[in-house]
Amino acid sequence: MSVPPLARVTVSAAAGPYPVIIGADVIEALGGELDALKLGARRLLVSSHRVWDFHGPRFRKIGADRTPILVEDGERYKNLNTVVRLFDALVKAKADRSTVIVAVGGGVIGDLVGFSAATYLRGLPVVHVPTTLLAQVDSAIGGKTGVNHPLGKNLIGAFHAPSLVVADSSVLQTLPRREFRAGLYEVIKYGVIREPDLLDRIRDTVNAIFDRDGNAVSPLVTASCRIKAEVVSADERESGLRRILNFGHTVGHALEAVTTYKQFRHGEAIGYGMLAALHLGVARGVTPKPLLEEVESLITHLGPLPPVADISAKEVYAAIGRDKKIVSGTLHFIAASDRGKTVELTDVTEKELKTAVRKVGLRA
Ligand code: NAD
Ligand code: GLY
Repeated sequence: MSVPPLARVTVSAAAGPYPVIIGADVIEALGGELDALKLGARRLLVSSHRVWDFHGPRFRKIGADRTPILVEDGERYKNLNTVVRLFDALVKAKADRSTVIVAVGGGVIGDLVGFSAATYLRGLPVVHVPTTLLAQVDSAIGGKTGVNHPLGKNLIGAFHAPSLVVADSSVLQTLPRREFRAGLYEVIKYGVIREPDLLDRIRDTVNAIFDRDGNAVSPLVTASCRIKAEVVSADERESGLRRILNFGHTVGHALEAVTTYKQFRHGEAIGYGMLAALHLGVARGVTPKPLLEEVESLITHLGPLPPVADISAKEVYAAIGRDKKIVSGTLHFIAASDRGKTVELTDVTEKELKTAVRKVGLRA
């Protein structure tokens, strides 16, 4: 089977442009890329126990000077306690300003390590090697880093652009099916907000995608990285365009927070959040009903989402009130106005939100 060749995307950031390298076995090129970018007299690897057990040996050749720092991953560990553990390890490792931190893992490791790198010694360079589909298509690019607060998702964080991102499709072979599916919801998001072909592609090649066939998965990853790169290059700090990436995230983040980050994979919460946003849009008359039906059918086709009947719409509404997408008291809600197009709503009411989440199965 021939796998599509390596792709390179460049992201513009205030701190300077950085490359995203995508392809099968590109981890092999990581050491050379770090050399070429003259990154880090010292290289310190940070990962999770689980990811390292699977993929650690592949990083022997990157010239890291000691054993990796390993922490737990998973949403419940994305908090300040883990950041403190990382700081302790960085002090112990005598990380200094000549050190580059290489984060190897899913979105949780990327956000935790990115935040630690942003703040330790007022900022060390970070390189992301995302190992989940979700992290490859979304979280490793764009420089958002941070941790959750018990009352709200990603409430503590910093913008800290990476110096390099290396997305190796071969690591996805070991990803559990549920985690892989969670990443696909974020690809659906790009289809709804920007590139409808992605919706067709997922629908038409779903079996090959779940088989992790490089010919089916790589185009999804490359297109998603390209879209994310375009959007964050135009609006790194989310003062306008970048808000479209929050499609599905208002309700999704609230679902994660009210279930204390235990019931959903992040992508699954976004799956529900997108459906709620589509219902809200249809009820408002801004979203065409066939688009809701198309996305509903695609999401159902991918497999089951966790049940939500035990979650109260009232609690989710309260959590939305603590969302960081509220600016000066105004919630910026992204709705879909057509396949590949969005509209920002700034006057969404409590009634509309509660109705929308009940439509996706929440209780009153
Ligand atoms: P995750 O990091 O918790 O990883 C999911 C699970 O997969 C973990 O148990 C991990 O050990 C395991 N895993 C990772 N790679 C593996 C591999 N190759 N093989 C086998 N197992 C592997 O979850 P995620 O879905 O990658 O990331 C979700 C997080 O990303 C959320 O906290 C979300 O807020 C964040 N996020 C951030 C941004 C951003 O712009 N910074 C964007 C989207 C999402
Ligand atoms: N995942 C939303 C963003 O990166 O802006």
